[in-house]
Amino acid sequence: MPSLKDLTRRDVLAGIGAMTCTLALPFPASGRSRDSGVVRESTEKSLREHASRRGLLYGAAAGKAILTGNKALADLFVEQCGIVVPENDLKFKHVHPKPDEYDFSKADWLLDFAESHDMKMRGHTLVCHEFLPDWFDDVVNESKAQRRMEEHLTRVMHHFAGKLHSWDVVNEPLEAESWREDGLRDSPWLKLLGPDYIEKAFHIARDADKEALLCWNENRIQNEDPPSTRKRTLFLKWLRDLKRRNVPIDAIGIESHLTADGSPVAGENFKRFLREVADLGLKLLITEMDVADDSRPKDVAVRDRAVAQLYYHYLHTVLKQKNVIAVLNWGLSNGTTWLAQSKARADAAPVRPLPFDDQMNPTLAFKAIARAFDKAPGR
Ligand code: G3I
Repeated sequence: MPSLKDLTRRDVLAGIGAMTCTLALPFPASGRSRDSGVVRESTEKSLREHASRRGLLYGAAAGKAILTGNKALADLFVEQCGIVVPENDLKFKHVHPKPDEYDFSKADWLLDFAESHDMKMRGHTLVCHEFLPDWFDDVVNESKAQRRMEEHLTRVMHHFAGKLHSWDVVNEPLEAESWREDGLRDSPWLKLLGPDYIEKAFHIARDADKEALLCWNENRIQNEDPPSTRKRTLFLKWLRDLKRRNVPIDAIGIESHLTADGSPVAGENFKRFLREVADLGLKLLITEMDVADDSRPKDVAVRDRAVAQLYYHYLHTVLKQKNVIAVLNWGLSNGTTWLAQSKARADAAPVRPLPFDDQMNPTLAFKAIARAFDKAPGR
């Protein structure tokens, strides 16, 4: 059974051959050294290049702490990404730690990193049921909620106005198992402002930044189980209603945290959902993609193949829609992924949900993503 370090270029190529999809082989004959001193096999084309040849943006989530602490990872972002998104640094509690105090230092650093390496940056996230600071409950009540929301969005968005590609204005407002007819998740914003908090947020956001694409970011959209199907139906209802009333929403984000456990994703109902989103004139972004491997056997080759197959199947399906403009992974290297904690394996083996391993070598997932980009229609 190969260990992580034993997985050579030949293993990667052999694994690719075993995938159900036929994948081209863009690895050059020799590896090359990187500034960081890490030696790894490199590729002829980065994911950024594979994507941009089809008019797509490719990128990943990161933060000041992980990029300043890991030069090899920072170099990998520069090489592979056309867009970056802060995984945590722009969340309410981080950027607004006290009622009258904002801290943009980490997100500013990331924007500077992005701009100085010709990358775009997107904003994540403004209004969410989570990520609220400790002071929130003490300070925000029904009479102050609207003003507090306006103040937070306006201050944060003005700070970056004209500089960000897009913003997750609302994050995960729906819940698959919601008892409500409208599918809304229990959230402080819902309790304080009622269901209108969603459209209020979009209007405030448009006033604060005329250029960024304004997105509704949502999770668990791709599965074929009944709660996910219901969620898609209710999501579409919301989107139709917002568009009909000229609420300034430009795009939806489909997070796409997938699990390689064999459960069906991206089936017919999901495809119909994608087409109906396109018919509404909305753009679509894959905002947080990764593939959890915790249900798969320990053997790295077996796991990597399952993860790569799911990447390919999912992206190949989604990218047929020409309104999809960007694909972002939630992290770039397996060395820094939230799944290491949240979907840790019972056998304690490191998880492998992303296109690069912890030594910044491309995994089979890299190949699958590149191949899905190559097969996608241009836009
Ligand atoms: O802040 C401490 C830090 O000081 C300490 O060094 C570190 C050690 O583990 O823990 C720290 O904070 C953690 C933070 O991630 C940074 O690693 C928090 O405890 C942890 O809760 C936080 O988790 C993040 C989670 O959102 C909650 O904010 C994950 O990194 C992040 O990947 C995840 O991202 C969400 C998206 O925003 C929305 N969609 C789902 C996605 C996954 O849950």
